[in-house]
Amino acid sequence: MGRLAIIGGSGFSAIAGLEVASSSAETPYGAASAPVARGTMASREVLFLPRHGSPHRIPPHRINYRANIWALREAGAEQIVALAAVGGVTEPFAPGVLAVPHQIIDYTYDRTQTFYDGGEGEVVHVDFTRPYTDSLRDRLIEAGLRTGMPVVGHGVYGATQGPRLETAAEVRRLERDGCDLVGMTGMPEAALARELGLEYAALAFVVNWAAGKGAGEIQMSEIESNLKACAARVERLLTAFAEA
Ligand code: HPA
Repeated sequence: MGRLAIIGGSGFSAIAGLEVASSSAETPYGAASAPVARGTMASREVLFLPRHGSPHRIPPHRINYRANIWALREAGAEQIVALAAVGGVTEPFAPGVLAVPHQIIDYTYDRTQTFYDGGEGEVVHVDFTRPYTDSLRDRLIEAGLRTGMPVVGHGVYGATQGPRLETAAEVRRLERDGCDLVGMTGMPEAALARELGLEYAALAFVVNWAAGKGAGEIQMSEIESNLKACAARVERLLTAFAEA
């Protein structure tokens, strides 16, 4: 098993007991969201990076995804578990559900998508047929089983640009396209990890029904309370994952 890194999303800007490993967030691609933290979880060394910075201040469209993935690799990461707060689009993905998605549709724009950006470098087209690493997904799902917590072991993640939430018509389109979940940070993060040869899987937790799928407008208070409700289960699952 390679060295594990966790990318924290909304609600996870720190994990108790981890200390800052590098004093600088600088990389050849600019500054990562924060210096990489290093610590132990279930007596296994883990790296941690809060995607939105600590405190949470970087919106999804302004995250330097390349610097984040680069910084993790420089710190020794071989596999990345990306935490993701998402909206639920289809029926199995109600608020409170934990899920390990298996596919992605990318609706983002104006984000730097690649390390192979032309100029002096080579032109490279990585395979992305299966955007998440299946062996890592399987281990997340097994960790869920061991803890006795239900985890939906599939799902198509639609990555939207944000920072606003979607319209109801946009969510109906996402559903017609085959999306089950919607979030703002899954891309280009997953593709950049693939470009650097890092294993990558997402652990998503549903914090609201996507626009038009629940009753009325989306309330931030609902998102906040579901984030809190999911946090303890996500940490338990991660601990079980690290133990295996
Ligand atoms: N849409 C996009 N991103 C999200 C949502 C949503 O409804 N909930 C949490 N992240």
